Amino acid sequence: MTKIIDSTEWLSLKKHFEEIKNVHMRELFNDDSTRFEKFHLTLDDFLVDFSKNRITDKTSTLLNSLARKVNIEKQRDEQFFGEKINNTEDRSALHTALRSQDEKPIYVDGLDIKPSIQKVLNQVKKFSELINQGSWLGFSGKKINTIVNIGIGGSDLGPAMVCKALKPYANKNLNIHFVSNVDGADLALTLEQCNPESTLFIVASKTFTTQETMTNAFSARDWLLKHANKDLNAISKHFVAVSTNTNKVIEFGINKENIFTFWDWVGGRYSLWSAIGLSISVYLGFDNFKKLHSGAYEMDQHFMHEPIEKNIPIQLALIGIWYINFFKFNTQAILPYDQGLSLLPSYLQQADMESNGKFIDRDGKRVCVETGPVIWGESGTNGQHAFYQLIHQGTQFIPSDFIMPINSHFQIGSEKNLHHEILISNFLAQSQSLMMGKSAKDVKAELNNSNVGNNHLNNLIPHRTFEGNRPSNTIMFKKLTPENLGRLIALYEHKIFTQGVIWNINSFDQWGVEYGKQIAQQVLPKIQGNEDKTCFDSSTNNLINYIKNNT
Ligand code: F6P
Repeated sequence: MTKIIDSTEWLSLKKHFEEIKNVHMRELFNDDSTRFEKFHLTLDDFLVDFSKNRITDKTSTLLNSLARKVNIEKQRDEQFFGEKINNTEDRSALHTALRSQDEKPIYVDGLDIKPSIQKVLNQVKKFSELINQGSWLGFSGKKINTIVNIGIGGSDLGPAMVCKALKPYANKNLNIHFVSNVDGADLALTLEQCNPESTLFIVASKTFTTQETMTNAFSARDWLLKHANKDLNAISKHFVAVSTNTNKVIEFGINKENIFTFWDWVGGRYSLWSAIGLSISVYLGFDNFKKLHSGAYEMDQHFMHEPIEKNIPIQLALIGIWYINFFKFNTQAILPYDQGLSLLPSYLQQADMESNGKFIDRDGKRVCVETGPVIWGESGTNGQHAFYQLIHQGTQFIPSDFIMPINSHFQIGSEKNLHHEILISNFLAQSQSLMMGKSAKDVKAELNNSNVGNNHLNNLIPHRTFEGNRPSNTIMFKKLTPENLGRLIALYEHKIFTQGVIWNINSFDQWGVEYGKQIAQQVLPKIQGNEDKTCFDSSTNNLINYIKNNT
């Protein structure tokens, strides 16, 4: 098979890069008054403006040809119809089936999976209602008013992000906590805020063997039993589990009917749509969980049916490829201007970096191009006062996604909309100034009108000049509703998938993480044991000894 970098499409992009690398976006905007018209796409009230990127019509045409070259449409269909595209684990990647709103069957190993998805959804609905109606009682007969989700990675980040983002929709009588870190501080400080009589733990773990989750779950169980006079019956009233590993859950002491199952064709980082989203459904209500699904389904339909040129996830993926592989900009900032979305950067870190942080391709060969970018970010305007200096004037270029709901859920202060108007103006000012920059001439004119003396003025000019040409996408929608959040998450999922296809990597395994888990298991007995000699490299051995000598 021809390597992607040897294809005519890649070589044409390489040549085009030489033509465009020094072109300033300022000129592109000056030369074409229809630029925004050309380079923005919508899906209902969801708008994606990608005009502030270092692209022209020609770039777009060439990138679209690259997407055709890798047969993106065929590979997309294979994912949606359940082909075992996760080739190293011999699994399908069917998170899209979990949120499907149609009746069409989807087969895995000859079996239609839709009925079992529906069965679990019914169970999630029933359970969410019992908690919300106050009919699920704790060991002493008290109603549940606190939910603690114990999980890590995909079994934590998605539900935690969604519950925070959609808090305005939550049942005001419920508190929710997410415990993920094996650092005892996480669980201990959470339990300080909980009453054992009215707290329900959701142990969310696909494998039910993850060290962090199991350690936290056993300690939470000890805490409960201590308060319930060691009555083992209390476990079934205060613990439910979401897992594919029923045997392990039963071994833990959770009743069979309190197990919410899912399937190996749901990847951890794509699992919030499954029963892993139980905490979402309980906290926000089942209807809102379904609305999250329906928003994502809408984006799925868009991804499935829109042509490449008008396909939002594909266009964002191609722009990412343009920067990572041609400009060699290897990080991507996620900048949500919404306090509720403050966990979105961490969520997308796992979604993207665990999916596309790979140097081996699907055929077991070393890739010949750069793959997944480093994802990072912070909610606006906090990020502005932390790292934006580097985005504006640093030597590295950071493609940035600015994300914002046009209307806020919160009106506060005497001028009801003031907070949000200030937030919007900052949001627009950042992407505008990153793109435009500020010339030395403009800086000089500005300083001439101030009281700065002539000598100092000339010294100041280079410091206050901004070269601009710093790229960004703008994603906006009317309000942060469950539907719009569903669309947003699905948009990134499909973007990540498309990039994986172009790089010919399997975006659905995570052998690097598995390796880390394995080594931690080998280190633990050395930390616990008394032998002085250890079997690692001299740095690790000495660090272990130092820890033991200082414990
Ligand atoms: O972080 C690695 C990983 O395997 C993720 O893919 C997964 O979301 C997480 O661990 C948790 O795994 P589990 O749900 O099996 O506890």
